[in-house]
Amino acid sequence: MRASAIIVAAGSGTRLGSGEPKAFVKLHAHPMLHYSLATLAATPHIAEVVIAIPGGLERRTREEVARASLEVPVKITSGGIERQDSVRIALALTSAESDVVIIHDAARPFADATLFARCLEAASARGAAIAAIPVSDTLKRVADGVIHATVKRAGMYQAQTPQAFQRRLLVAAHERATREHIIATDDADLVEQLGGTVEIVEASAINMKITTPSDLMLAELLLTSKKPR
Ligand code: CTP
Ligand code: MG
Repeated sequence: MRASAIIVAAGSGTRLGSGEPKAFVKLHAHPMLHYSLATLAATPHIAEVVIAIPGGLERRTREEVARASLEVPVKITSGGIERQDSVRIALALTSAESDVVIIHDAARPFADATLFARCLEAASARGAAIAAIPVSDTLKRVADGVIHATVKRAGMYQAQTPQAFQRRLLVAAHERATREHIIATDDADLVEQLGGTVEIVEASAINMKITTPSDLMLAELLLTSKKPR
């Protein structure tokens, strides 16, 4: 299998409110982006990496790439307005020779190489696979501060990244999204809307997305109990 990895790191981190783009906010000793790059360096099948970043941060990104000791070619590009735009721009830079593309949010620094490998293997064999965890809380549909319904929890999962796809399928899904103005918050949704089957790879709540200041606090705590990479 030949895989291309895309790291989307072009968001501004508005909800975190750190005053700089989220992927470059320090987590423990390193910018958040470092953790995903270090994980990719230890992931099998990765033949190239494309990183989407906010404009103006190329030099800092190059430094992080060097620090992660990636032994494959790395391309750096400016991202787009929405996450989906950043993925589309990065996808266009991936080699057509890759069988599989795996996409990961820089905002999830705790995804490990095993999780990447499981998603890659499943997508290579069956088309598409994403990291996800079963919902454990009771879900309420709320409007104006009042519960309107309790949503049955059985069979509900929270989607995470990494998300891996056979390249042809992902390209077709993005082309259709552009053509038909479809907007989705993850790539799996675009493939689902194309009629593709997307498999679940059971992950862990440790693979959290850092969105708010309290998420960052929690991530710092997690890292103090781990050896820094
Ligand atoms: N992302 C991106 N390009 C965008 C928006 C988001 O590459 N135009 C990336 C982010 O860098 C992040 C991932 O998509 O790694 C998930 O997005 P999110 O957690 O929403 O990050 P931000 O958009 O940076 O945060 P916020 O929405 O609070 O501004
Ligand atoms: Mg965002």
